[in-house]
Amino acid sequence: MTNKGRKGSLAVFPGSFDPITNGHLDIVDRGLGIFDRVRMAILMNPEKQPLFSVEERVAIIREAYRADPRVEVDTFSGLLVDYAERVGASVIIRGIRAISDFEYEFQMALMNRRLNPQIETVFMMPAESYSYVSSRLVKEVFQLGGRVSDLVPPVVEKRLREKYGTPLAAGRTRRSR
Ligand code: PNS
Repeated sequence: MTNKGRKGSLAVFPGSFDPITNGHLDIVDRGLGIFDRVRMAILMNPEKQPLFSVEERVAIIREAYRADPRVEVDTFSGLLVDYAERVGASVIIRGIRAISDFEYEFQMALMNRRLNPQIETVFMMPAESYSYVSSRLVKEVFQLGGRVSDLVPPVVEKRLREKYGTPLAAGRTRRSR
């Protein structure tokens, strides 16, 4: 019997999601192949200076998934394993894009296991086409006028435009000047 057979299985997919990318959406889709519900949990981290406020990130995710009740969104602070236990999730999903992600993720997964052995971390690989996509690069590329429409859902592109305005160089090439 798969875990999905256990009615109401819930996995927490934690992150900063500043903003979500198509790579995150790909991981959520894969998660839904195994679990009944995936809850995207945004860390409230006062030490970070995000582009989008926590409220904006929640709204973006809600809009991206407004047609799919299997995807939930929430915020948390404190230890991730405590949050997962509190909401009744026994699995944490993390995406691994490349070997370079692995060391940090492995360390976190083992620390989380030490903190709460009842909660298992499941690593998922996004499609290769997203292996180089990160929230940080999306913001940088957009700001410098590069196209991000294949890398983020439409709501994120819209919000980026609202935040930065239409970047001066957007869509421009040498020839179009
Ligand atoms: O998208 P990110 O920034 O890589 O996500 C990192 C996140 C939120 C998963 C991680 O920082 C986290 O779980 N923070 C909560 C605090 C915690 O539990 N720390 C101990 C983990 S080993």
